[in-house]
Amino acid sequence: EPAPNGCPVSSQAAAFDPFDRPYQLDPAEALRWSRDQEPVFWSPRLGYWVVSRYDDIKAIFRDNHTFSPSIALEKITPPSDEALAVLKRYDYGMHRTLVNEDEPAHMARRRELLDAFTPEALEAHAPMVRRLVRERLDAIIDRGRADLVAELFWEVPLTVALHFLGVPEEDMEQLRRFSVAHTLNTWGRPSPAQQVEVAEGVGRFWQYSGEVLRRMQARPNGHGWMHDMIAKNREKPDVVTDSYLHSMMMAIIVAAHETTALATANAFRQLLSRPAVWAELCANPALIPAAAEECLRHSGSVVAWRRIATREVAVGGVTIPEGGRILMVTASANHDPRHFENPDELDIYRDNAVDHLTFGYGSHQCMGKNLGRLEMRIFLEEFTRRLPHLELEEQTFTFLPNTSFRGPEALRVRWDPARNPERRDP
Ligand code: HEM
Repeated sequence: EPAPNGCPVSSQAAAFDPFDRPYQLDPAEALRWSRDQEPVFWSPRLGYWVVSRYDDIKAIFRDNHTFSPSIALEKITPPSDEALAVLKRYDYGMHRTLVNEDEPAHMARRRELLDAFTPEALEAHAPMVRRLVRERLDAIIDRGRADLVAELFWEVPLTVALHFLGVPEEDMEQLRRFSVAHTLNTWGRPSPAQQVEVAEGVGRFWQYSGEVLRRMQARPNGHGWMHDMIAKNREKPDVVTDSYLHSMMMAIIVAAHETTALATANAFRQLLSRPAVWAELCANPALIPAAAEECLRHSGSVVAWRRIATREVAVGGVTIPEGGRILMVTASANHDPRHFENPDELDIYRDNAVDHLTFGYGSHQCMGKNLGRLEMRIFLEEFTRRLPHLELEEQTFTFLPNTSFRGPEALRVRWDPARNPERRDP
């Protein structure tokens, strides 16, 4: 079968499946052939146009009229009738937030909601982040072994996200299960049996978000970004709409914590697997911000993002028809040698690491990027100071199968508590 533009499909393009092992283990590596030979291709298995080079992806991000983000949160695997029935039972109505809103509504809304992201506003959260990291480190520091994902990297960013949003701290385990369901529902390929289970999780998450929202609306003097939105919804209901509020309530819990949790796990994995680099950070913590940025480039937590063509358009010389769905593999862009020298090397002195596309680019670029960076920085500062002798255990890493969110499900480390610096200098 030819591609929708009439061109033949190469054997590599026909075989490409983001749910196969190579992409799940290392999406940038899995698309090396594409970057080299066929940077824009039709994937019959996915029903998407896949784009893998840096310049092409940046050009798509830059033009959000031709390349609409409206499908950013669409289920990448079409739901079964049974799953749809389950969602209907929960009155599920996830619709536009910011990340999948078109212009001019998007910018009008985004502009109203910027106050929480000023450098001063973000810096005010730093002591809370540091306190949380320290408390969780206190709990394990004499133990000598830990799974850092289970002990810290999941729960700290979730707690920070809830504080930032002004959402009351709720059952963390429940939220974790909800998030996994939402990710599989949106970016995964659940089996028919899983579809129903995932739909139950998503439906309950939707209801839960609505309840939390109603409770928050009853407290008009609350603080946090969700409260800003609630206030704007009262003031300008046509800009910050009711439908937006409920959808955002569910989407943002995931956007603000899962991304950061996975990015932190990726960064620690990469840095600890290079003991000389880790030792350099311990000796010179001023290198930490640059190291965190390079980790976001080398091993970002968001590895692919979506757009839909609103008209026939050429990308990298390939004609994509109107309505063509596009998967931009940002992890591949971040390893494109046309933009990054020796792209597979983790180089904390790289001068253009910040050009990475892990936070997207253009008018939808991640609003929370500096909160994510702040958290990664504080994690690294506290660990390099208090556990400089940390080592990665031998282990096989596993990942939640999906196209877009990536980080190890566990990160097992060990250290000798007798060598903890705080014993010598309490
Ligand atoms: C959008 C990644 C942390 C809030 C995005 C996008 C990506 C992304 C890829 C889409 C960008 C585009 O379409 O151009 C990440 C990563 C994070 C992170 C990798 C952590 C390492 C956060 C945090 C928050 C947040 C902590 C919240 C406080 C948002 C919002 C948008 C967004 C509100 C939508 C912006 C818009 O469409 O105008 N993020 N994110 N993100 N992110 Fe993040």
